[in-house]
Amino acid sequence: MKYSVVIVAAGQGKRMKAGKNKMLLELRGEPLVIHTLRLFVHDDQCNEMILVVNEHEIDAMKKLVGVVEMNKPCKIVAGGKERQHSVKNGIDQLHHKGIVLVHDGARPFVRKDVLQKLVAQAKQCGAATTAVAVKDTVKRVLRHRVVETLNRSELWAVQTPQAFEVALLQQAHEKAEEKGFLGTDDCSLIEWLGHEVVIVESDYHNIKLTTPEDLLFAEAILQERERHL
Ligand code: CTP
Ligand code: MG
Repeated sequence: MKYSVVIVAAGQGKRMKAGKNKMLLELRGEPLVIHTLRLFVHDDQCNEMILVVNEHEIDAMKKLVGVVEMNKPCKIVAGGKERQHSVKNGIDQLHHKGIVLVHDGARPFVRKDVLQKLVAQAKQCGAATTAVAVKDTVKRVLRHRVVETLNRSELWAVQTPQAFEVALLQQAHEKAEEKGFLGTDDCSLIEWLGHEVVIVESDYHNIKLTTPEDLLFAEAILQERERHL
């Protein structure tokens, strides 16, 4: 089942505290954004990539992407202020009625078998997200006082990629823009429309590099993968 992917890389990476967009940080001599892009270069099901970047970094990103041997079209477009605006700019480039994956440029470790399952679920149900069961007990807190303890057996931490029928995601983004609804992920816009979202179990390696210690975890994951090559 073929799909397009929108990779969002237009953030600032403030929590990484690297003094620049974390997308440009190198892991094993290659920028993070290139590690993520290669996942999709190497997936035969993917037939189009749209990379959304900071408008001030378009030229730098074009240069970086230029070193990757491409086997499918890869468009680079400018992002927006919030992640949701960046995704919108990406999906505005789609001109088919098939499946689109939306993926964080900051998640370089998603597995190919997970991509396959995700695409199949989106084809069947319209919207699906990768997720893992929450390991910690989660409490709702106000002003440093516990309000309630949530039932862990019902809690999932959602990740990207998230997959959608193109028309459904475009409709959700258009309506959200019109009504001023801002969600932290794309599935929340679909839920807001009242449409079902399916969970596809992923794994704990699919981390989002967010804070400095995530770089240590990323190095460890890369080392483990090299051992198994
Ligand atoms: N992103 C984007 N456009 C934005 C904000 C975020 O394309 N306006 C992208 C980021 O580049 C990242 C993904 O969305 O790949 C997930 O966001 P996050 O991890 O929050 O990255 P940043 O926003 O860059 O980091 P921070 O919130 O720490 O500043
Ligand atoms: Mg952010």
